[in-house]
Amino acid sequence: MKKNFTEDRKKVIKKGALPKHVAIIMDGNGRWAKSRGLKRIDGHRAGIDTVRRIVRLAGEIGIGYMTLYTFSSENWNRPPGEIRGLMEILAQTLEKEIPELHENGVRLQTIGDISALPKRSRDALYEAVEATSKNTGLTLVLALNYGGRDEIVRAIKSIARNVRDGQLNPDNISYKNVESALYTAGIPDPDLLIRTSGEFRLSNFLLWQLAYTELWITDVMWPDFSDMEFFDALESYGIRERRFGKTSQQINRMTRKVASYIIKGESQ
Ligand code: IPE
Ligand code: IPE
Ligand code: MG
Repeated sequence: MKKNFTEDRKKVIKKGALPKHVAIIMDGNGRWAKSRGLKRIDGHRAGIDTVRRIVRLAGEIGIGYMTLYTFSSENWNRPPGEIRGLMEILAQTLEKEIPELHENGVRLQTIGDISALPKRSRDALYEAVEATSKNTGLTLVLALNYGGRDEIVRAIKSIARNVRDGQLNPDNISYKNVESALYTAGIPDPDLLIRTSGEFRLSNFLLWQLAYTELWITDVMWPDFSDMEFFDALESYGIRERRFGKTSQQINRMTRKVASYIIKGESQ
């Protein structure tokens, strides 16, 4: 019964506008654990089960890219014990999950300054990225030691070096130059951003890339984020009107044009 219902919802979502790229701020692991009398680290462990489930579902639905905010550049300010625990969970999870990722055709990528991670996590990451690089299913991007401002400063440095070396005229600097100097070069901007735990902020996530992203925030803590919640977010996305500065009328005219083109195409 439940399975059929899930399959029906999947079908409905696939018919509507599907986000090509979903980004998620997976927040609330600590509060989830505390409300159950558990340790924060237990919340992070429980969060991994949600990651596994949602990644699998995203692949099944046909989403192209999913970026998960896994560890921010500011998370180094947490107690050392929690940081150690998080790094341990990261390394263990990567080592354990590579076969299933592979089986499901997932291609793993990372954004952020990986060089600052402990060696075991780094090695596990390099191995997982390399092993899955030829896969053609969901591209799963882990944001690790990632900060939006760090990323922008890094891009500015790289552009400044090109200018200094005479390869780029400052008057010609375009969005394209900036985009190709970001960690996310080659990855489309997120269409939908999901944040759990009811916080209405970006927390230094993808500051450049989220310029026109649709936002969806739920009070649910990440370990409790269900398949149904994910469907709710996708369905909400499917009925939104993304205007990118245009008027609603212009968008509708365009939609009608595309629709009539498709209908004509089908009748030929
Ligand atoms: C998100 O959960 C996971 C990371 C930031 C690594 P939190 O650990 O931030 O959980 P809360 O926000 O304290 O509940
Ligand atoms: C954002 O969550 C970072 C990750 C989910 C990895 P935080 O819990 O660190 O964000 P703030 O501190 O509440 O803004
Ligand atoms: Mg938090």
